[in-house]
Amino acid sequence: MRLLTAAVTSLALTLGAQAASAAPVEIKFSHVVAENTPKGQMAVKFKELVDERLAGKVEVKVFPNSQLFGDNKVLEAMLLGDVQMAAPSLSKFQKYTKTLQIFDLPFLFKDMNAVEKFQNGPEGQKLLGALQKKGLVGLGYLHNGMKQLSASQALKVPSDASGKKFRIMTSDVLQAQFEAVDAVPLKKPFSEVFTLLQTKAIDGQENTWSNIYSKKFFEVQPFITESNHGVLDYLVVTSAEFWMELDADLKVEVKKALDEAILHGNSIAAEKAASDKQKIIDSKRSQVLSLTDAERAQWVEAMKPVWKQFEDQIGADLIKAAEASNN
Ligand code: SIN
Repeated sequence: MRLLTAAVTSLALTLGAQAASAAPVEIKFSHVVAENTPKGQMAVKFKELVDERLAGKVEVKVFPNSQLFGDNKVLEAMLLGDVQMAAPSLSKFQKYTKTLQIFDLPFLFKDMNAVEKFQNGPEGQKLLGALQKKGLVGLGYLHNGMKQLSASQALKVPSDASGKKFRIMTSDVLQAQFEAVDAVPLKKPFSEVFTLLQTKAIDGQENTWSNIYSKKFFEVQPFITESNHGVLDYLVVTSAEFWMELDADLKVEVKKALDEAILHGNSIAAEKAASDKQKIIDSKRSQVLSLTDAERAQWVEAMKPVWKQFEDQIGADLIKAAEASNN
């Protein structure tokens, strides 16, 4: 009897010690932008909420500025278990699904309200599952904003872009978009853009106000055309393996914290775009150009045929649904 009691006590002590020493679940969150951006702030908020609510059980480590992985490598790393969360731009998933290419179609969404309406609607919500077969889980959309065109020369009409080299994200739609105006698109990682612009290896790029400001592109690009020609938003993703193995109670709490952090990021995105645009204007390093309706119409006319080019891959119905979100 004494032996049995001793054995039970010893087992209880061992289990207790194991529970006490069980390391928290680690969530490495890797991204490529600066901290003072909607994505940077969303990641910080997520960490804060998890620290507050799940201390000792889950630990979030945020790696901004491509410190851990560039966006072109992060999804492979996620599938290998080297990173648990990321929020690549929607333009960086084409290796895994063609349907998310919808977000790259030029002049499809008239503004961020339309983007949000589409993302929150049935088609947008269904797209969150587009990566399932590839072992990735879409956890939510995150806003950055509408893209602008920056360049070494003023871009007012499509012919101004002719022959110029533009850095693009890894997207065939974006490639076709620049080819439609006879420009030369080059797929390059975000971390290389500043140097490519500074050394004049390329003439321009497209990005949001917050990325142009936080990565100082405006300091090496004398002109920015406020074209609002496309959207740059994100999909927060994790691997199906990590997500499935996460304890059910923890999963609920982690998802809740993530949803709140995404809401926070989305709530500051529009304000950030407006204030970063103003800071660029105030810096006088770059001239912000607006387009007349007639000039804008020329860009639309030149770029819109790209929709047809990708209709089979994306789906005509999906494009229609996205268009309808403008109303
Ligand atoms: C990002 O906002 O995550 C990067 C966008 C880019 O690659 O241009």
